Amino acid sequence: MRKGVIRPGHIQLRVMDMEEALKHYRDLIGLIEVDRDDKGRVYLKGWTEVDKYSVVLVESDTPGLDFIGFKVLNEKVLNGLKNDLIDYGCEVFEHEAGELDSCGRRVCFVTPTGHTFELYAEKEQTGKWGLAKINPDPWPLNLTGMKAERFDHCLLMGPNVPATKMLFSEVLGFDLSEQVVTPDNTIAGAFMSCSMKAHDIAFVECPDFGKLHHVSFHLETWQDLLKAADLLTMTETKKDIGPTRHGLTSGQTVYFFDRSGNRNEVFCGGDYHYPDHPPVTWKAEDLGKAIFYHELVIHPTYLEVLT
Ligand code: FE2
Repeated sequence: MRKGVIRPGHIQLRVMDMEEALKHYRDLIGLIEVDRDDKGRVYLKGWTEVDKYSVVLVESDTPGLDFIGFKVLNEKVLNGLKNDLIDYGCEVFEHEAGELDSCGRRVCFVTPTGHTFELYAEKEQTGKWGLAKINPDPWPLNLTGMKAERFDHCLLMGPNVPATKMLFSEVLGFDLSEQVVTPDNTIAGAFMSCSMKAHDIAFVECPDFGKLHHVSFHLETWQDLLKAADLLTMTETKKDIGPTRHGLTSGQTVYFFDRSGNRNEVFCGGDYHYPDHPPVTWKAEDLGKAIFYHELVIHPTYLEVLT
């Protein structure tokens, strides 16, 4: 049952060289730089996003993901979910309002897969970038690169995916929209939704805690994916695979890497989800078809290169 979690709201991503990262996320992917803070963090957003930002870049010695924030309906929902997490046995800690620019207090916890999540109810809303609030045009002038519309989801890897799936469904009210199951009926991949999207967060089993597989940005059309792949070659950016189609979610995709080694995805299309839909199931032994529907095999680096 849905419990008031609205959507993935932000990620904080570690990069090893901020200027190189900005060439990638701002100039190539086309996110809009909206702010910087006194910790050296840079805040960006996709042009369709109403909240002030969704991507926070922080310079570090190692790449990877610091945390993912999900926005909830209001403070009452936030307090309720905090209590539910504590009752479920999670260790919960808080960041006060303002620690992250223009964001309210954040309730944080770590999943059994070793990933740090946070919930928050308040963030400044600046509106869709470059568009008037009244009588808006369909899209703004002066977009760059891939013209990413929004931060959409992440795929995370770690151990204990069944327990993490339970946490997200039982406590946070997510639906299991698609799953990968092993021959003994264990969930090895959980694709979970708190909306109509095919997934808002995905977990896949691996032995190492807290790994980022990819962070994904939505593009408008298949033609935009083709041009995104053109841009990867034009900018000598390392591509992983695509343009192609997933079996899981049936979305269309291109995978590539930022200059620090974090995997990105740009995607479009794919399935939708209503709360009464039973999960779509894929067999782990058919994982090639599930992930790369045309190639039918998994690219050798796909499950091994993680940050
Ligand atoms: Fe994805």
